[in-house]
Amino acid sequence: MSVQVAPSILAADFLHLEDDIRLVNKSGDIFHLDVMDGTLVPNISFGFSVIDQLAKKAERPMDVHLMVVHPERWFEKLQSDGVQMVSFHWEASRCRTSRFIDRLHALGIKAGVAIDPDVPVKKLFPYIGKADYFLIMSVFAGFGGQKFIYDSIDRVMTLKAEIEKRGATALIEVDGGVNAGNVQALREAGVDLIVAGSTVFRSDNPAEAIKMLRGV
Ligand code: DX5
Ligand code: ZN
Repeated sequence: MSVQVAPSILAADFLHLEDDIRLVNKSGDIFHLDVMDGTLVPNISFGFSVIDQLAKKAERPMDVHLMVVHPERWFEKLQSDGVQMVSFHWEASRCRTSRFIDRLHALGIKAGVAIDPDVPVKKLFPYIGKADYFLIMSVFAGFGGQKFIYDSIDRVMTLKAEIEKRGATALIEVDGGVNAGNVQALREAGVDLIVAGSTVFRSDNPAEAIKMLRGV
């Protein structure tokens, strides 16, 4: 499977949101929706007032990245919006990670486990064979437009090798600071899903930027 690109709506133009939704419908693969609570991460983004509206227009799968404490409180509501993919942070779930994955699966939602750059990638290993995807943050979660942390490429390679060793099928998503200077290395490291905010929406030609990220 070739790499899929998930433009991050956090970087969209909220005064003309429908234009950016149309762009993702036409040229992107997945909508990446960042929900932040100001507690797990030092910022607040958007919530259901935006997701409910976007769900009516989205013709591509929605991938909700929950950067909140108690992510499980929102799983059912996200299901009712037709969200297909939900990731939550291991830092917010810890010993309940498996249970949260099961709850998402029971709702028919693909389950992703996310980690910030300071969490050892090994923390994800127990969920290989269980989670549908892993989100390796390549910046500290909380803000768009940050600088890519290069160590993330090694983290992707380590996780990819472990997934392959176990014959599992989990996908790897990378999020934060992805641009023309690092995307090829990420693709070579084995990334399956690329999240990009600034690189897509700050570009003069967002459709071309998406193509460049996809590499085909
Ligand atoms: C950061 C978010 C990202 C962010 C990426 O906490 O999870 O999805 O929107 O934005 P860029 O691509 O600009 O780093
Ligand atoms: Zn994100």
